[in-house]
Amino acid sequence: MFSSLNRRLTLSHLSVALITVVVMFTVASRAILRAAIEQAENRIEDLAFATSNALEDPLEKFIEGEASLTNVQVTVAHWLTKEDDLHYTIFLTDGTPLIDNLSPTPPHPTEQTAPELYDALESDIGEGDIIRPNEQGEEYLYVAVQILHEDHIMGLLRLGVPYSNVIAPAQRTINILLGLVILLLLTVGVGGWLLARNLTAPITDLTTSAQKLTAGHLEARATPSGPQEFQQLAHAFNSMAARLQEHVSNLRAFVANASHELRTPLTTIKLRVEALHHGAMDDPQTARRFLKEIDSEIDRLTAMVNELLDLSQIDAGSGRDAYAPVDLAILIEEACEIFEIRAQKNKIQLTYQVDPKLPAIFGNEEQLRRVLDNLISNAIKHTPKGGTVSLRLKPSEKPNFVCLQVSDTGRGIPARHLPHIFERFYRIEHTRPIDGRSPGSGLGLAIVQSIIEAHGGEIRVESTVGQGTTFTIELPTLPPPRF
Ligand SMILES: Nc1ncnc2c1ncn2[C@@H]1O[C@H](COP(=O)(O)OP(=O)(O)O)[C@@H](O)[C@H]1O
Ligand SMILES: [Mg+2]
Repeated sequence: MFSSLNRRLTLSHLSVALITVVVMFTVASRAILRAAIEQAENRIEDLAFATSNALEDPLEKFIEGEASLTNVQVTVAHWLTKEDDLHYTIFLTDGTPLIDNLSPTPPHPTEQTAPELYDALESDIGEGDIIRPNEQGEEYLYVAVQILHEDHIMGLLRLGVPYSNVIAPAQRTINILLGLVILLLLTVGVGGWLLARNLTAPITDLTTSAQKLTAGHLEARATPSGPQEFQQLAHAFNSMAARLQEHVSNLRAFVANASHELRTPLTTIKLRVEALHHGAMDDPQTARRFLKEIDSEIDRLTAMVNELLDLSQIDAGSGRDAYAPVDLAILIEEACEIFEIRAQKNKIQLTYQVDPKLPAIFGNEEQLRRVLDNLISNAIKHTPKGGTVSLRLKPSEKPNFVCLQVSDTGRGIPARHLPHIFERFYRIEHTRPIDGRSPGSGLGLAIVQSIIEAHGGEIRVESTVGQGTTFTIELPTLPPPRF
């Protein structure tokens, strides 16, 4: 099927070719015809002059009565009978036709019926030619020349050839040309169609892929083909589709995880409330315990919902308005002061080391405090007694970045978990915090990563089981670009 663009391209190719070819064909065929006529004229003129020279003597003798007409006839026959399509007539100066090879009684010429004879009589070189119908209405090329004897006009010789014979070879050439023209147009048409298809096929493919994507087939991809620009478009489309697919699958996983995480405390609450309904209320001690459990589950739920809200707000870029120069050294100092008590309680040494004269970074102070908060509390949570948690702020190897590290000598993270620990709700289930507190929501590191990325930075983790974990953050010292 012709798509619209395909048809338009093909037609435009074809019409350009058609106009060019028709103009060229017209000009060429006219030139060919003109050349053929000129050639025939020259040939007949040459023949006419040669014959008229040869006739000079016999005609003069005939007119003087010294010889019969036979001599004239023999001479004419000698010169002209080889030309089988030739019509020849010899006239005397008074117009009387003497010999005619086609008619025994040719009509007497007039200026209207034989203008070439009058032209020949009047012309300096004694010649006239014209293309006109003969007495039978057939188109002829006529050439008339004077027959002279000592500058006296004794008669006229007229030669004629059918016009159709004159142009026959030209007609053949023109026919061949016409065949070539048709072939050329066909080639242009087919070639143009193929070319147009080459152009439109990638667009059709892209449209199909986009439609599939719209219909929910997120795995649909375009096949890069055709001109370079279309291939680039297909690649761009494919990376967009890949991003979309990844995004949607993350979103699905997130919704599934969130529902699951929210359901657990809700189930606990529901069970406790039911138990209270069915008699647990009668035992004040059990009732108090259940109410405490319900209270803490509600706290967990609230914390989780708050964290989810924060996460979506950070991802949406909120907090950017509050960006200002922040001295990370001061934040580290303050954070360590706050966590000192908890660290002491867990018999953990909390230290920090800060390179002086590091430039301030540009960011949201509250969010950056939260980063330190999450990382330090994780480190304390997963480090046994006698361990160390140390913070370090130093220049980064990347220009215009600073490097912040939070290291601990804790239990470490098994390698298979490392690629996932920044995912939302990802927890290493069997690792309950060392200080015996309930496991977190698994959103802490996701929030840290979102904040760091919103600041144009990056976070990575290295860990050895049994030896400890180091989180490394690179943050730019220049304002991040606004997208
Ligand atoms: N410093 C650390 N040492 C060992 N494991 C850690 C450390 N920090 C985080 N983890 C692991 O990564 C998981 C995800 O951490 P996080 O996102 O902060 O969730 P949580 O709410 O459980 O703290 C935790 O469940 C924990 O197992
Ligand atoms: Mg945490």
